[in-house]
Order: sequence, then C-alpha cells, then structure tokens
Amino acid sequence: MSSESSPATLARQLTDAGYLTPSWRDAFTQVDRKRFIPDRVWIRGEGGYHPINRTTDPDRWNALVYDDQALVTQVEDDDEAATARVPSSSASMPRVVALMLDALAVADGMTVLEVGTGTGYNAALLAARLGDRHVVSVEMDPRLADTARARLKDAGYAPTVITGDGSRGCPARAPYDRVIATYALHKVPYALVEQTAPGGAIVLPWGTGLYNGVLLRLTVGEDGTASGPVVGDSAFMWNRRETPERDVMATVRHQDGDQAADTRTGLDPRDVFGDENAAFTTGALVPNSRYTVGHGPDGEFTVWLADHTTGSWACVDYVPGATERDEYDCRQHGPRRLWSEVETAYAWWRNAGSPERTRYGLTVTPTGQRLWLDTPGTPVP
Ligand SMILES: C[S@@+](CC[C@H](N)C(=O)[O-])C[C@H]1O[C@@H](n2cnc3c(N)ncnc32)[C@H](O)[C@@H]1O
Repeated sequence: MSSESSPATLARQLTDAGYLTPSWRDAFTQVDRKRFIPDRVWIRGEGGYHPINRTTDPDRWNALVYDDQALVTQVEDDDEAATARVPSSSASMPRVVALMLDALAVADGMTVLEVGTGTGYNAALLAARLGDRHVVSVEMDPRLADTARARLKDAGYAPTVITGDGSRGCPARAPYDRVIATYALHKVPYALVEQTAPGGAIVLPWGTGLYNGVLLRLTVGEDGTASGPVVGDSAFMWNRRETPERDVMATVRHQDGDQAADTRTGLDPRDVFGDENAAFTTGALVPNSRYTVGHGPDGEFTVWLADHTTGSWACVDYVPGATERDEYDCRQHGPRRLWSEVETAYAWWRNAGSPERTRYGLTVTPTGQRLWLDTPGTPVP
C-alpha cells in the first residue's frame, strides 16, 4: 500500500481516469471508504471469492479499500477462511459508484432515495453532497442495515436508513427528486416510479436472465410513467426479491430427465452467450430464464437454461469441431422449450440488425414495463 492511500488518493485516481466529475469530487474526498468496509472482505479469484482479513493481512486490506475495485462484504456461505461462492452484499467498484451518481444528475436541495444500502458508503456520499435530511436509504438485510447505520454515525453522517424491501421504497418521505438502486432489477417496481416527483429521475442497474446488466436512466413524466434509455453497463448483485431460485441446476435436478426431448440445434451457443448484445436481447425476449455453464475437457461446454417458475429446462452441448457440422446436441424439458425460444429471440435480434444494448430503453407504467429499441414507440416483441 502506498503510505499516502486515502480518500483523496482514490478521488484523484478516479478523476484522472475520467470517472469522477467536479460535482462529486468533494464528497469522494470527504467520505472515507475505509470506515464502511468490514474487517473481512472477499475478492473474486480462482474458484470463487477469497477472503482478505484486516487483522492477518492489513497491508492488502488497506490497499484494497482505496483501490478501484468491488469488494464483497458479505457471503451466504461464510465459513471463516474458505473460498465463498454466493456473495450477498458488496461495496461497489468506486468508478461505478461515481458513474451512477453522475448519471443521477443531482443539484443542491434535491432529495434522494437509495435502495440497497449495503455498507452505507454510497449513502454517505449522497449525504455529504446533499445533506443528511435529503437522503433515505433502504436495506433489506437487517444486520447490514444496522451496521450501515452505525458506520454512518461513526463517520459523521446521518441519512435515514430503513430496514425493509427497497421494492416498496419509502412512501413516508416521498416524493423524491432522484431514486437510485444499487442492486440489479429485472422488473422495476412501480412504487419507485410513484415515489419520484414528476421530472425526477431513477437510475438503476437492470438485467435480463442472460445478461447482468445495463444501467438505465428513467425520467418520470406527469402521466405517472417512467421512461428512459440504457446509459451504460453495470453488473450488480440481484434484487433479493427476484432471486427465489438462484441455482439453475436445482431446477434441472427436480425434473425427470428421462422425459426430456433430444434434438439438435444449428445455433452455436457461443453466438448467444459470447456476444453481450445478443445475450442481453435474447434474455429480454425469453423471460424468467436463467443460465449456467458447465465446462468439460478440451474446450467442451454445456449451457444449461432453466425457468424455475414452470420447471422447464434446456441444455446445449458445445463440442469443438461440431461447428463444421453446424449442429449441436440439445435437450429440452418442460412446458417451455427454452432453447427454441432462444433460437427465435436470437433470430429476431439478427433480423433487427444485431442492435447494441445501448440502443434500448425501458418504459414503466402502473401495469408493467416494456423494452423498446431506439424510441419508446418501437417496443421489442
Ligand atoms: C451491491 S450492494 C449495495 C452497495 C451499497 N450501495 C454500498 O454503498 O455499499 C447491494 C445491496 O442491496 C441489498 N438488496 C438486495 N435486494 C434488496 C431489496 N429488495 N431491498 C433492499 N435491499 C436489497 C443487498 O442486501 C445488498 O446489501
């Protein structure tokens, strides 16, 4: 660690790299990320997330705190020392925090609702910029909410931290000029739109079952709808409310594989999963789908898709060399033929000219949401 590491060095690094605008520079310089990071964090590495302990590895821990990287701060499978697989909270990558706050476009006097308090670092930045009374943050995990409250207080900030489901927002303090989500959503809860003042904005990471994710900036209209474009990329952990079944393979194991239909497909799975724009669109057109990839020897892999709501699943084997025959083995099971749906969605994307994900936008109304391409008047099928 450089002996000079401090919030100011982090702010300078982010400014030099073009991620931090003058509007947020003072807040990043003031708020010390270190005060919000627990003594044990996990960083992504071989086979999962590896713990770094402040007590046993203080130099590494200190360097990480002021580095521009995401730190997992809580895992579900915590057994003290070992590699973990399921992160449940994190301190987001500082450059992503800076870009999202910039996209929020706040001005003095505005009120902000954050959903996903996590460590409390982002709430502290908001409080430093706008004042404690102007910031409300909601965290679903009671232990995290309590810890964030305590850390915020110790660091000299006092935004309101509510323990609850961010999908409901915090109606008691509405309307807000800005709403920011720091977990990824599939479906934008209408409560967040309702609680945003007309003309206000919502910035949120949004993903499809096959791609996590993009950053959306929605503007709320007088008519109570919210609409806006994709403004960038941002991969986040999912809304806890929308991940009832994290494990694709659990859906597969519950089914009777003997009844699966064996077919062949001409669609190379790499064309879908190896192209971020194809994966984003395909995921949007094949709702409730999740996927995982199992790697075999010599470059072989199998993509598994599942829809836990219907118990449907599909798998496609990629075998190097099979490309020449343009055919891959495929199995499908359940009321939905998920791979067939992927084929149709992929064909739509190709016919539409293989649009990049930045050409899409979303409109949210009281009755649901719809994805559009280029303008709100052109919904995708
Ligand atoms: C990436 S972390 C947030 C980072 C945080 N803003 C920070 O500054 O540290 C995502 C957080 O969202 C929380 N979360 C997920 N789903 C939620 C929900 N439906 N309501 C409220 N919090 C939720 C998780 O518990 C987790 O702490």
